[in-house]
Amino acid sequence: MRMVDLIEKKVGGEILSGDEIRYIVKGFTDGSIPDYQMAAFQMAVVFNGMTDRETADLTMAMMHSGDVVDLSDLRGVKVDKHSTGGVGDTTTLVIAPLVAACGGTVAKMSGRGLGHTGGTLDKLESIPGVCIEQPMARFKEIVDEIGVAVIGQTGNLVPADKKMYALRDVTATVRSIPLIASSIMSKKLAAGTDAIVLDVKTGTGAFMQTVDEAEKLAHLMVSIGKLVGRECVAVITDMNQPLGLAVGNALEVREAVELLSGKIPAGDPLYEVCMLLGVHMMRVSKLAKTEVEAREKLESALHSGAGLEKLRRMIAAEGGDASYIDLARIDELCRVNKKINVYPERAGYISSMNAERIGTAAQILGAGRATKEESIDPAVGLVMKKRLGDFIRADEPLCVMYVNDESKLNAALNMFHSAFEYSDAKPDYRPMVYDVVRA
Ligand code: URA
Ligand code: CA
Repeated sequence: MRMVDLIEKKVGGEILSGDEIRYIVKGFTDGSIPDYQMAAFQMAVVFNGMTDRETADLTMAMMHSGDVVDLSDLRGVKVDKHSTGGVGDTTTLVIAPLVAACGGTVAKMSGRGLGHTGGTLDKLESIPGVCIEQPMARFKEIVDEIGVAVIGQTGNLVPADKKMYALRDVTATVRSIPLIASSIMSKKLAAGTDAIVLDVKTGTGAFMQTVDEAEKLAHLMVSIGKLVGRECVAVITDMNQPLGLAVGNALEVREAVELLSGKIPAGDPLYEVCMLLGVHMMRVSKLAKTEVEAREKLESALHSGAGLEKLRRMIAAEGGDASYIDLARIDELCRVNKKINVYPERAGYISSMNAERIGTAAQILGAGRATKEESIDPAVGLVMKKRLGDFIRADEPLCVMYVNDESKLNAALNMFHSAFEYSDAKPDYRPMVYDVVRA
């Protein structure tokens, strides 16, 4: 087999065999296929796509490019949750402990921020002492003792994706449904849980900009899960505004603590998406017979404080100072040189928010990295004061920016303001949840 012939085939819109796909993944992982050939192949996939069978073959080949975790010695149904990436999405820090408080076994390997999106690991590291790199044996021990662990990827998991993703990032080949589905599912399958709940985001802050694309991605990932006998459910949720009000690492931890302390009401978008994901995690874990029962159990763990207690115990087990995980102390993590009220460019209804630009504004302040080598400032970011569709007067703050380095403020403000459109008429209601996709 020659890589150049396989690229040619995909350029011509032909379908590759399983052997051909395995040849490509193996060759690229071991270095015998160079970056430029893989980049050309990936670009051909961007334009000509892959069949579901090709995507499943690609996923399996990637999954087997490194270690596959075995969690079978842990009790219960091991469940994982994954978001395709959003802004102000701190759901993991809320529902992983809540599901554990209801008897679930949540074993999750999270990622760092990618592009304009935030990452759970960066958020966890804003808590002093937390070490997200834990050996596999310790990860299992924490899951066994507490019912929940969220750590960084451990071991040599899916090296093919690390290389393929890095290449896609710099060759404009990220936004391809088969490439995203195989990238996500290879990692989820290699992480070894029995069940996976996927949150596919759609909108201005998501990789999938339309509901139609999100549906395709969701169905593809669920069918790949089914193919290998893992229980898999995908929900499609809105990312046309930051999910929570906070965008930034410690700020999002604070919002998670507020939610787990009962300070955020039902009906709030973050609250509702947390419940939705939690309900499906409970259902696939066989911890509730109906969705109503699942929600009741989750809300009771929320209001009793059992969820917050699980988060504290997990933070402590990962070396963190859990005394910050308290409404009385959490503000200490969000201390900055300056908090700046940001006013809208005009009064009116907020008719559109570009969540990607809002995420980027927070990153410019230091909440994310522009290069791999950059470090994150955990305390900076922004807290929205209004939601999509709200009316805002010219003298009302639209957000509060948390700033340490004032030289970055102008660029952040320009980026932030470019995210908004205003109208005189009240805009149409937009749903928070578009669909639930099962095998
Ligand atoms: N997240 C991933 O892990 N991979 C992608 O390709 C896109 C989002
Ligand atoms: Ca459906």
